[in-house]
Amino acid sequence: MSLAFPLHRNESPLPDGDRETILAAPGFGQYFTDHMTSASWTAEAGWHDGKVTALAPITLHPAAAVLHYAQEIFEGLKAFRHADGSIWLFRPDLNARRFAHSARRLALPVLDEEAFIASVEALLRADESWVPSHDSGMSLYLRPFMYGAEAFLGVRPAAQVSYHVIASPAASYFSGGGSGVTLWVSSTYTRAAEGGTGRAKCGGNYAASLAAQVEAHENGCHQVLYLSEPGRGYLEESGTMNLFLVTDERELITPGLGTILDGVTRASVLELAAEHDLKAVERQVGIDELRERCASGSICEMFAAGTAAVITPILGIKGEGFEQVVGGGEPGGSTLAIRDHIVGIQRGRLADSHRWLRRVV
Ligand SMILES: Cc1ncc(COP(=O)(O)O)c(C=O)c1O
Repeated sequence: MSLAFPLHRNESPLPDGDRETILAAPGFGQYFTDHMTSASWTAEAGWHDGKVTALAPITLHPAAAVLHYAQEIFEGLKAFRHADGSIWLFRPDLNARRFAHSARRLALPVLDEEAFIASVEALLRADESWVPSHDSGMSLYLRPFMYGAEAFLGVRPAAQVSYHVIASPAASYFSGGGSGVTLWVSSTYTRAAEGGTGRAKCGGNYAASLAAQVEAHENGCHQVLYLSEPGRGYLEESGTMNLFLVTDERELITPGLGTILDGVTRASVLELAAEHDLKAVERQVGIDELRERCASGSICEMFAAGTAAVITPILGIKGEGFEQVVGGGEPGGSTLAIRDHIVGIQRGRLADSHRWLRRVV
């Protein structure tokens, strides 16, 4: 039998008025709901003790493996309220599968797909009042994560592991980047290498990305555009999003999988391409090709795709000694149409013809 997550209700939830004040302007990742999901794993007992309880701090031994060796993975997915009040998840099965992939890469125990989805749904049912209204343009962001909790010093997989899900009401991800972003092509840092952890969603990848993000901000850019080699080679992805290029011949090009994250939004965009008269192409794109074709206009749109910001137009790229406007510095028509299509499905305004939504409430 799969792991169950019984609810032990928070006896002191945030008062309704305070919650409504937060939901009026939640920002991103700043406020958290009344509950959290938890489960434990040990080598002897496997997964056990699933539950939903009041949100509370976690106690860790100072020697907990995660604090020293970064044995940690996470996921991010959103719940949407529709006009009839119902609440839906967008493709949680893909997050469950990616979480299992990340677990294997980090030598953490796999939580099966059924238990992963049950853990998210249990929290969502407990905190359904935190899902913003259908017309707010907002959602409830869910963050499952797992880490080595065993107390020991030494490099080996932890024999004691903890799993949680927390939730945070979410407005727009990029402050000030609403109509589009510029990306910094780092000549100093890469994100991942063959055989490394690029395709896993592990905290260590993001820790290693922070210096590059600081560099991007210092150069007036919103995010980093990672290449396969510092300043050279092939496009990989952005800090928290996959990359797409639209050509004047109606090709929709995205870097193939390998060292990048297998994004849920990326997969969805690829599946929608034909409906937007675009031919989906997964292939390597060199930074020189990108610069030349943006300059000539044969790459006429560029966008980034990810759960947090959905589809974000990329209006320019910048690096050591160059600056290149993309698409005349305006969001492209296909970019906006694909964004409207995905958001329309997520919010129940367009038919879910691909069966991507899963009703929870
Ligand atoms: C490095 C990276 N690439 C791509 C993505 C986009 O993935 P998804 O569409 O599943 O959110 C994310 C966000 O999860 C990310 O952190």
